[in-house]
Amino acid sequence: MSLPLKIAPSILAANFAKLGQEVADVTAAGADWIHLDVMDGHFVPNISFGPDVIRALRPHTSAIFDCHLMIAPADPYLEAFVKAGCDYITVHAEAGPHLHRSLQTIRALGAKAGISLNPATPLSVLDHVIDDIDLLLIMSVNPGFGGQKYIPAMTDKIRAAKSLIGDRPIELEVDGGITPQTAPQVTAAGANVLVAGSAVFKGDGVEDYRKTVALLRQAASGA
Ligand code: DX5
Ligand code: ZN
Repeated sequence: MSLPLKIAPSILAANFAKLGQEVADVTAAGADWIHLDVMDGHFVPNISFGPDVIRALRPHTSAIFDCHLMIAPADPYLEAFVKAGCDYITVHAEAGPHLHRSLQTIRALGAKAGISLNPATPLSVLDHVIDDIDLLLIMSVNPGFGGQKYIPAMTDKIRAAKSLIGDRPIELEVDGGITPQTAPQVTAAGANVLVAGSAVFKGDGVEDYRKTVALLRQAASGA
């Protein structure tokens, strides 16, 4: 079973001085989800934004908010992110000792729960929690920064993740270095949610983003 293809622009590459407009523009341009990269300068070597910014963005689009938490610890902040309007909340398996508790908390708060894995983290960490997630995020760069190169070894990892997921209705997302050049191999391997920052936020405004989103969608669907 494959869930429908979704293009999820990461606003990390948007113009932070007008984020509300950027989110509205990229939605009008055909994006399916908005990917929100939250960084704490501790789990990853960069700082981005937190729940207050997300809450301020919520009225600017009706698109799904896909929140990627690159923070440790994550548990004390989960409620704030759900209240800010996140639909999916993804935590890193490497970010804390109680992964199952984080997933349980996210679902209890009424959001969908995801796990993200750094490039070096094996899929075996999912063995006992696969039925507790709605989304699996395979990092195809080391988290912390946009604009990095796709790590080719991640294509095999995506294929293995797809087979592990089997018939479960779990979104298989890939994040990092996704462009019209790399998109075909990740969808062929089984990914159905494509995060893209620098490949989407090129130029400025709806007309430019309509082209970048369409290019990515075409490449991803093998058209
Ligand atoms: C990296 C972030 C990504 C990043 C992707 O830590 O999780 O979402 O913004 O950026 P690009 O598409 O430029 O690789
Ligand atoms: Zn991300």
